[in-house]
Amino acid sequence: LVKACLFDLDGVIVDTAVYHFQAWRRLANELGFDFTEHQNEQLKGISRMESLELILKWGGVELSEEEKLHWATLKNEWYLELVNKMTPNEVLPGVPEFLNVLRENGIKVALGSASKNSRLILERIKMLDFFDAIIDGNNITKGKPDPQVFLLGAEATGCKPFECAVFEDAVAGIQAAKAGGMKAVGVGSSDILTEADFVISTFEEMTLDRLNF
Ligand code: G6P
Ligand code: MG
Repeated sequence: LVKACLFDLDGVIVDTAVYHFQAWRRLANELGFDFTEHQNEQLKGISRMESLELILKWGGVELSEEEKLHWATLKNEWYLELVNKMTPNEVLPGVPEFLNVLRENGIKVALGSASKNSRLILERIKMLDFFDAIIDGNNITKGKPDPQVFLLGAEATGCKPFECAVFEDAVAGIQAAKAGGMKAVGVGSSDILTEADFVISTFEEMTLDRLNF
């Protein structure tokens, strides 16, 4: 039986993916190129610096390490401008309801995100209290698809990996869950999240029964 649920943040609890995309696009545009929403899929779940490397490669732009740090900082400032305007209305449909069901049934809830801004975002959307543990970009040395973030999440809840179900909108995140020996529920499109055990399009479709397949 599933004893803990581990949630990605961006694109699962709240749709910050659109804000990341806006901020990265602004960076690309200022460097003289553009990229598509399709390419943006590859950035989901990937750390800030890794995302920057990919985007620069797409644009054929080479920067020094110092310049990379400068642009990554700038991107984060633009991103935080958007985050600071966020409200609890932006929590994705069915999320608080499902988290309440988990709590009522004694199932632990943890966050497993690559973001270094996760606490700020959870505060903005008033969701901090829903989580028993938070593992994010500040706690990890290896990004998704490495399972580290979810293994630390499992440990923090006192559960074994096989007792955990991970909710993810990113291909790299589903791969991380599977590499960690956990159940993987995709949030989004089954055309993209082909490696997930099953895919929901919103948490309104999610029930306790579906966890224990
Ligand atoms: C999440 C998002 C990524 C983002 C990463 C780092 O995994 O899906 O798009 O790059 O977090 O976020 P941060 O807020 O630290 O820049
Ligand atoms: Mg995500």
